[in-house]
Amino acid sequence: MTYNLKNMKIAVVGLGYVGMPLAVALAKYGSVVGYDVNKTRVADLKEGWDSNREIRQAMLRASTCEFTDKLDDIKSADIYIVTVPTPIDEQNNPDLDIVEKASTAIGGVLDNGNIIVYESTVYPGVTEDICGSILEKVSGLKSGEDFFLGYSPERINPGDEVHTVENITKVVAGQTDEVAELLVELYGQMNGGNIYKARDIKTAEASKAIENAQRDINIAFMNEVTMLLNKMGLSSYDVIDAARSKWNFLPFTPGLVGGHCIGVDPYYLAKSALDIGHQPEVILSGRKINDGMGAYVADRIDRFLNRERQCDHNAERDEANILILGFTFKENINDVRNTKVVDVINTLKGYGYNVDVHDPHAREEEVSHEYGLDILTTLPRQKNYDCVMLAVNHKTYSEMTVSSILSLLGAKQEHVKPVIYDIKGTWKTLDFPDSVIYETL
Ligand SMILES: NC(=O)c1ccc[n+]([C@@H]2O[C@H](COP(=O)([O-])OP(=O)(O)OC[C@H]3O[C@@H](n4cnc5c(N)ncnc54)[C@H](O)[C@@H]3O)[C@@H](O)[C@H]2O)c1
Repeated sequence: MTYNLKNMKIAVVGLGYVGMPLAVALAKYGSVVGYDVNKTRVADLKEGWDSNREIRQAMLRASTCEFTDKLDDIKSADIYIVTVPTPIDEQNNPDLDIVEKASTAIGGVLDNGNIIVYESTVYPGVTEDICGSILEKVSGLKSGEDFFLGYSPERINPGDEVHTVENITKVVAGQTDEVAELLVELYGQMNGGNIYKARDIKTAEASKAIENAQRDINIAFMNEVTMLLNKMGLSSYDVIDAARSKWNFLPFTPGLVGGHCIGVDPYYLAKSALDIGHQPEVILSGRKINDGMGAYVADRIDRFLNRERQCDHNAERDEANILILGFTFKENINDVRNTKVVDVINTLKGYGYNVDVHDPHAREEEVSHEYGLDILTTLPRQKNYDCVMLAVNHKTYSEMTVSSILSLLGAKQEHVKPVIYDIKGTWKTLDFPDSVIYETL
């Protein structure tokens, strides 16, 4: 079958961090309707308001992309692009419920000749074996004959203004070569033809899963190295800076691994490994180390505070006040999904500390709803914290001066030094006085 992209209508299903910018970008070249089950999100987008702050109001208002929460409005689409969440459940198993529901909905409006492209991150086989079967069952049409599947993993990195939908290489794959070629053309319009055509759909699915698992494992290595260097009394950032001077040292840094991708996708890869009888040793040990990092960070803070107070967290001691700077899962965005800062907070609270959290980007209502926490959106003025921990490298924090950081501190007892714990090493070049303890991972 030959396709004429110019005459084809596109529906983007799921208007979140991935789907909405994609729909707006594609609308520059043709007819696009964005569909989402979240009525508030759709109403906001119609008003030109993106609560994820990925797209500015003027740009959204100027876009020809239509937004709807009515399935009927996407009935006439020729190409469906699915960008719904693919999370994990409480046992860290892939939770395909949402992508299955979206497939059921699309199956209900599918016509002969339609193309369904999945962008959601999945493990190899989900597009064809799971979603394809649902589409067949609901529509009564045959996959690969009456309708055709495609897969194109999403690589955008929210908050990153350098690597955008319009310049990063896009991987595409199709059930037939004609579909793959159509996807080359479709996505190539947006990024100057910067497309990699994968051999087949499973290859493209697997490529996404290993990209993120590779990152996770490399960070896990840095986290493990950090734990042993800390035991030796060394700062991992000092050691990394020295090692980085070698030409082929990979520039990963230790830290909390949260969010919906790096901390989630390796479990998708692990699941497909287990399904075929392969024990994914490295993948799962990387996950275990990274998932334990919040508790490790809290223990380090506890140790520094108690060293000053000459007690341990099992002993009775003065309560200390801790201010955590940053709650989102990464810097300069408002996304709090799967943030591991919450592990630090919960562990510290479990030890009996008073913990305040500040974040200039996170949405107060969302943090309260999802985590039951009241965050501060402006920095407290009074000097009363025994410890300030820098958790997320927001610009607001990286621009702080020694005096603005010190203005947050004030130990209760004169002989006890307040602690600055900087897990990102952001302030390591600042010159703090001896009256405070400054530590990094
Ligand atoms: N956010 C990222 O940076 C990123 C990067 C690469 C890949 N991904 C992957 O892309 C996919 C989407 O992620 P996201 O961050 O955009 O998610 P998101 O939570 O920001 O957005 C998903 C949207 O889908 C909507 N939705 C849920 N069920 C639906 C349904 N049945 N029909 C229509 N809409 C529905 C939700 O209301 C929401 O608005 C996931 O698989 C994710 O792993 C995300």
